[in-house]
Amino acid sequence: MTTTRPVRKAVIPVAGNGTRFLPATKAMPKEMLTVVDRPVVQYAVDEALQAGIENIIFVTSRNKTAIEDYFDSAPELIASLTRSGKTVQVAQLEKMLPVAGTVSYTRQQAPLGLGHAVWCARELVGNEPFALLLPDMVSYGAKGCMAGLMDLYNDVGGNVFAVEECAPEETSSYGIVGVGNSVAHGFQVTEMVEKPAPAAAPSNYYLNGRYILQPEIFELLAAQERGAGNEIQLTDSMQTLLQVQPFHAHPYQGRTFDCGSKRGFIEANVAFAMLRADMGAELHASIKDILALHETRMKAA
Ligand code: G1P
Repeated sequence: MTTTRPVRKAVIPVAGNGTRFLPATKAMPKEMLTVVDRPVVQYAVDEALQAGIENIIFVTSRNKTAIEDYFDSAPELIASLTRSGKTVQVAQLEKMLPVAGTVSYTRQQAPLGLGHAVWCARELVGNEPFALLLPDMVSYGAKGCMAGLMDLYNDVGGNVFAVEECAPEETSSYGIVGVGNSVAHGFQVTEMVEKPAPAAAPSNYYLNGRYILQPEIFELLAAQERGAGNEIQLTDSMQTLLQVQPFHAHPYQGRTFDCGSKRGFIEANVAFAMLRADMGAELHASIKDILALHETRMKAA
């Protein structure tokens, strides 16, 4: 059944171990690594709020309490900053504090895959459509990816997600979709496959980590069947749901940085820093210097 019930809640899974960033993530959640001066997870929260989301549900795990502390008040810090006259910093901290009661946490008790992490949020989401943002994927564009996705959802209802194009040899890193008829803001999805080999991929459109899903997905995730990588995959349950509910894809006009990879994380830092009025121009010049230094260094090696 197609429905355009409003989307009020967003699920943000933050339970992953961050193995790719060891040793930095030995004692710190990967979601707290900074892109310029804000943790990666803040970008996903801002994107959700910008799209009109009212409630954020984090699926956490052991050793992630820094995320809860980050989204809580910090009275001692505020008092200390106030005493030192640091009014700009006080205003900044007060502005980013979520409204009390709008952030919830539940724990994924074992790392069984994205599908399982989403299923862990079922009681907090309840029987209504919800947004899902994978915080490793940081979107960079004039408009937030989730806001664009919301436009598509308001037109077509059902289930929607954002896609981008990858190089043909990269399909085995992502969920890949089959392309159907065009609609305003996107296209109908004919199939979804998790991490297919290039020869088996239905296209090079990959799921970039932004979804709006109907609550019926939870019944399918409850079966907890393992898929690619022996993990409980969200994509597999979406493919099953496609038999009874429509899915549409929204090609994101911006670009997403995969901050779960070292290269994507560094690229995001450079790209976001270059947008900043307080350092963008200087950084642009520094990058030219670094490139020249690098060339000299490589010649000397
Ligand atoms: C997950 C999803 C995949 C999606 C990707 C985006 O994979 O399963 O469909 O394309 O996120 O980052 P993961 O990166 O967790 O392996």
